[in-house]
Amino acid sequence: MAEELQSNKIQDVGKRYEELIPQIEALISYESDLIANLANVSAALFQAMDYLWVGFYIVKNDELVLGPYQGPIACTRIQKGKGVCGVAWAEARTILVDDVNAFPNHIACSSESNSEIVIPIQKDGKVVMVLDIDSADVAAFTELDQKHLESLVEILQNTLEI
Ligand code: SME
Repeated sequence: MAEELQSNKIQDVGKRYEELIPQIEALISYESDLIANLANVSAALFQAMDYLWVGFYIVKNDELVLGPYQGPIACTRIQKGKGVCGVAWAEARTILVDDVNAFPNHIACSSESNSEIVIPIQKDGKVVMVLDIDSADVAAFTELDQKHLESLVEILQNTLEI
């Protein structure tokens, strides 16, 4: 029973991404302003999914600076290699953390956050921002989230005027 519920939940999450991602693609195709698009992308993700926090950190003067987001107040600046975001930036790869309290480098912006996924967004082979998502649940993100979120990021890389 528990396994069945778990597998229904996973299917449901997959379906939600499959419906949502084309809608986001359409949404950002009508607007060229970067900040306006990042704001709507975070709002669309926040409304459709059960995230605690979702938003962007943008590389500025060799730091990550808080960009558009939805959720509780967050730290404004993150150094390269620090926190889950700083590691995703330094290593230019998605970082999925099941339990942020066990991640040595984690920066706790909200005590409610228990798991996190960060996907880097690149331009010309360089990370220019990251998409950061937090959940109140432990191990909320799976490879399914990673797959869909990386496909969303690919769309963002190809569409946004970064
Ligand atoms: N936890 C992040 C910091 C940003 S907040 O989650 C919004 C990190 O460790 O990089």
